[in-house]
Amino acid sequence: MYVCICNAITEKQIRKAARAGVTDLGGLQARLGVATGCGTCSDTALDVLRDNAAEAPRFEPRMFTPALA
Ligand code: FES
Repeated sequence: MYVCICNAITEKQIRKAARAGVTDLGGLQARLGVATGCGTCSDTALDVLRDNAAEAPRFEPRMFTPALA
């Protein structure tokens, strides 16, 4: 689905950018050009970005305890 009509940016592209580390609208603008035309897509682009962040797997650190001899 197209999110940004002015720049032909899709939801898939935004999700990919999020997985690459983009976390805010400025990052999306710099990377994809989203919301750099009329700007009406900015809320939707942020929604997609936030949805992706909510779905992203969380890194859970584990404690390593070496066995004592
Ligand atoms: S629809 Fe994205 S800048 Fe116009």
